[in-house]
Amino acid sequence: MQNTPYYQQAFVDYLDAYIQEKEPKSLYDPINYILQLGGKRLRPVLTLMTAEIFDCHYTKALNAALSIEVFHNFSLVHDDIMDDAPLRRGQETVHEKWDLNTGILSGDAMLIMAYQLFENYDPETFQALAKLFSKTALQVCEGQQYDVDFETRDDVSIPEYLKMIEYKTAVLVGAAMEMGAIVAQVREQDKRYMYEFGLNLGIAFQLQDDYLDAFGNPETFGKQVGGDIIENKKTYLYLKALEFSSDDDKQQLLHLFSLKPTDQTNKIETIKDIFNTSGSSLATKQVIEEYTNKAFGILEQLQISEEKKMLLKTFGQQLMNRNV
Ligand code: IPE
Ligand code: IPE
Ligand code: MG
Ligand code: MG
Ligand code: MG
Repeated sequence: MQNTPYYQQAFVDYLDAYIQEKEPKSLYDPINYILQLGGKRLRPVLTLMTAEIFDCHYTKALNAALSIEVFHNFSLVHDDIMDDAPLRRGQETVHEKWDLNTGILSGDAMLIMAYQLFENYDPETFQALAKLFSKTALQVCEGQQYDVDFETRDDVSIPEYLKMIEYKTAVLVGAAMEMGAIVAQVREQDKRYMYEFGLNLGIAFQLQDDYLDAFGNPETFGKQVGGDIIENKKTYLYLKALEFSSDDDKQQLLHLFSLKPTDQTNKIETIKDIFNTSGSSLATKQVIEEYTNKAFGILEQLQISEEKKMLLKTFGQQLMNRNV
């Protein structure tokens, strides 16, 4: 096994070779733009690492890893349209740099490219990968729809929120790992463990994403800080703040999350204050740790070396403590 930066580099090299300048440019330029905009590359790295954990050379998992990353980037292009987001990885979002129609169609093409990459595998592996991919991609759509539906609801519960983030984000992290296990042709039980590990890590990951959306450093975060507050997203921070707040703060929260005021700076600062004073920020930090530890617990079931478990744990710890 190698370390994380090694897999990241191997993946980026493979991605660079995959990228082609094609006609029409107005379709492919935005695709190449978003794919080369950087990002943490955490999902493909997990695919490659999982393959190697089961003694399969990572090069065999590169196409599956690429498929996951292309799909992820497709989902970001469409997500940024849906969330009206101006910034992605410190640069303009696709629909801002080009326009809405470009974002829609380039995104569509990427979804197809992601699927096409499975053609590089033998029929049996192809079928297993495609089956997992289709199930996962549909769940992501369901999660994204809940996310949008929740913007205009004032009675979202914590279990509903957790289901929503499981679908929009965590299932893809689980699938990224299971794909590594599929390529490595491991037994069913181990595929499930890897999926479950990724799923719980993915829930922690989205909770941390929500936290950073409010409290990240605008200089380094790469996305518009406060974007979720502007869009009235029903995050864990918000739901816990409602639960913990005095009646006055609760009324203010409900009121501010029922409109989109012109003075967004004021709204963002007021809401962040309530997140902190109510104890909701702290509760969010705690639940992130809980899901990370739940993921680590699953590792105990696996019959792999302690060294390999440590590698996955270090990866999980870094995700929990990240600021980007
Ligand atoms: C952003 O994912 C979308 C979420 C599911 C939170 P990442 O934070 O992995 O984005 P990049 O690829 O590193 O930019
Ligand atoms: C994104 O959730 C989930 C998917 C892209 C499927 P967010 O909307 O929180 O992701 P960011 O914060 O824009 O990266
Ligand atoms: Mg978004
Ligand atoms: Mg979104
Ligand atoms: Mg977010």
